[in-house]
Parts: sequence; structure tokens; C-alpha cells
Amino acid sequence: MNNSNTNNNGIFYGRRKGRKLSKLNKWAIMNGKKYIIKKEDLAVIFNTNNKIILEIGFGDGENLINSAKTNPKLFYIGADPFLNTTAKCLNKLLMFNLKNVVIWPDDIRNILNYFPYNSILDIKLLFPDPWPKTKHQSRRLVQNAFIEKIYKILKPSGSITIATDHDILKNWVLEKFQRYNEFEWTAQSSKDWKSRPIDCFKTKYESKSILQNRKPSWFIFKKK
Ligand SMILES: C[S@@+](CC[C@H](N)C(=O)[O-])C[C@H]1O[C@@H](n2cnc3c(N)ncnc32)[C@H](O)[C@@H]1O
Repeated sequence: MNNSNTNNNGIFYGRRKGRKLSKLNKWAIMNGKKYIIKKEDLAVIFNTNNKIILEIGFGDGENLINSAKTNPKLFYIGADPFLNTTAKCLNKLLMFNLKNVVIWPDDIRNILNYFPYNSILDIKLLFPDPWPKTKHQSRRLVQNAFIEKIYKILKPSGSITIATDHDILKNWVLEKFQRYNEFEWTAQSSKDWKSRPIDCFKTKYESKSILQNRKPSWFIFKKK
């Protein structure tokens, strides 16, 4: 696992390690190495798969694993730098013996430049860290440079789904994307952004949000 915490675009401020790994999760890290990718593996992945979905910050992997199980003809790349959740996800990948998923166990911004242009069908970014304080807004993942990068790697008509339950981040995301004319917000009515899209599964953070009486929103932006 890469433990560097800087990258070309800034610094990674989230957690990379939490509490001590359980025996099972240590076992998953040891045995799940076949799922972990390096930059050098990307050429083969992009040459052999046409329909690739990228999930950024998969957390405990609920959406990533359920999506991969439901859509065996799609290929999934999951990115998350947090060791404890990566271990949990590897454990599930091993348990279900999934063949259509690989994991980048690091900051997504450290690999995005290596993705070919027009190569990704769809991106999921579910409940990214909100960094609500104004002084921390540069830590939010959705920034102009990030939007430009994902625009390049998405296929024509490809889309990004961003879920958040945080009002400050909702406004931030809408403002950033609406300023970028090459993306179209697909919502026709409030129903479209108030309910989880049919191709997304409930995650730990969505459950937490509902328990705490917050209202998640799902924004889908399509590359024009
Ligand atoms: C609030 S959690 C949400 C997890 C999951 N998507 C869910 O809905 O339950 C945010 C996740 O994004 C990951 N993350 C934060 N910054 C990231 C980055 N630069 N690249 C990839 N993942 C990142 C964190 O490690 C964490 O697992």
C-alpha cells in the first residue's frame, strides 16, 4: 500500500489508517493482493475492458460490491486510500470471488492522469467527505481541476453521480458543475435528485444520514 500523502494537486487530508486491523481484515489484505492495481496495470485493464465504471471513495464497498455482482459484464475500478475500509472490501471481493473489480488503494488524484481520455463509462462519488468549514474548502475533492480531469476521462455521454447529505457540499457541487458548460445536470424534477438512482446501492453513509434525519441528494452530471 502506498503511504505517501501528497500528490500533484495538493495534499490528502483524510485518514489512511484507523484502528488496528482485525485478523480477518489482515488476512484479506494478504490474500486480496490480486485485486490491488498499480499504474502499470492500467494499460491492460483499458485494453481488455470497454465498459469501465470508476467508484471514488468506496468506503466499506457496499455499492462497489453489489454493483459488480449485479453487472458481471461491467468492469469496476474502486479507489479509496483508507486501509481499514479497503481491507473490508477485499474481504468481500474474496468471499464472492468477483472477477470484474480492481482496487486502487490510494488517493484517486494520484492515478487520474494515467487514465486514457474517453475511457470511463460512469463515475460514482457517494458521500465524499464534506469538509464543511470555509477554511477547509480546498480539501473538498470536487474542485475545478478535478472536474476538468473527469471530463477528459469520461466517454461521450458518460456521467458522474455525486451523492451528499451536506447542504454546503450540495451547493458547492451544483455551483462548480453548472459553471462547467460541458456537463449537463440530468435532473428534470426534484424527484430525480431526491431519490437514489436505480444503479446505486445503499451505503453505510446513506444509512447514517437517514438515521440522523439528514436528506441525501444525488446529482448526476452528463458529459455533453
Ligand atoms: C464519507 S466516506 C463515504 C464512503 C462510502 N462512499 C459511503 O457512502 O459509505 C468518504 C470516503 O472517501 C474516501 N476518500 C477521501 N478522499 C479520497 C480521495 N482523494 N480519493 C479516493 N477516496 C477518497 C475516504 O477514505 C472514505 O472512505
